[in-house]
Amino acid sequence: MQSKPVLAVIGGTGKEGKGLAYRWLKAGYPVIIGSRSLERAQQAAQELKARVGDAADVRGLTNPEAAAQAEIVVVSVPYAGHKAILESIRDAVQGKLVVDVTVPLQPPKVTRAYFPPAGSAALEAQEILGPEVAVVDAFQNIPHTAFWQDPPPTMDVLVAGKGKANRERVLQLVADAGFRGVDAGPLANTPVVEGLTSVLLYINKRYGTHAGIRIVGLEADEHA
Ligand SMILES: NC(=O)c1ccc[n+]([C@@H]2O[C@H](COP(=O)([O-])OP(=O)(O)OC[C@H]3O[C@@H](n4cnc5c(N)ncnc54)[C@H](OP(=O)(O)O)[C@@H]3O)[C@@H](O)[C@H]2O)c1
Repeated sequence: MQSKPVLAVIGGTGKEGKGLAYRWLKAGYPVIIGSRSLERAQQAAQELKARVGDAADVRGLTNPEAAAQAEIVVVSVPYAGHKAILESIRDAVQGKLVVDVTVPLQPPKVTRAYFPPAGSAALEAQEILGPEVAVVDAFQNIPHTAFWQDPPPTMDVLVAGKGKANRERVLQLVADAGFRGVDAGPLANTPVVEGLTSVLLYINKRYGTHAGIRIVGLEADEHA
């Protein structure tokens, strides 16, 4: 059996990143938590180990170190810090797959879709990281609360980004995290995937829920 790739979760000390790390640790992936602070990264890694169990292969490193030691790098930081974080890991991610979870929200108006000049956070990331990196969006539409439910709720993850083969790799990560992934096409589609989050946040506010999405009309309609 092929061994699972080492994942780094940049911003893995936060709500969304820690939840994702939890799901992948439970699925047997080696995970490195990245943070701007080594201490915070190690603390989050310890917390996850306590939760998942001793078998969990998890450690904490600074963001650039975490990115350097991983095969696939997941970026889960607030949009305000996105550019600086990408610049700090740019050298370490050359030739790698970067899964971007970031939504370009503009607090406090998070229920209004905002599109940066490049079109989306992922398109910006691709520009910043350069052509040797493949940026793929995923998990923008999954509320962090969903990651701690066992099994996770029936929500779809839209996967959009550079190259079909890269999207396939991310679809596998999505399935292993316990969700159904749907190939949502090229990087050009990422503004819609990211913009949908503000629509969901509006729905959450309006109806007092933690909404997700489900695509109908797919043949394999079962929960992943
Ligand atoms: N929360 C959700 O339900 C949810 C759902 C879908 C998508 N998202 C998206 O996922 C991303 C992360 O969301 P989150 O809720 O996990 O955010 P968060 O908890 O506020 O922050 C995540 C981590 O990012 C780092 N960080 C915070 N501010 C930063 C800054 N200005 N510059 C660089 N790093 C900073 C922090 O890590 P260190 O201090 O340890 O470096 C923090 O623990 C966001 O883009 C968000 O829109 C979130």
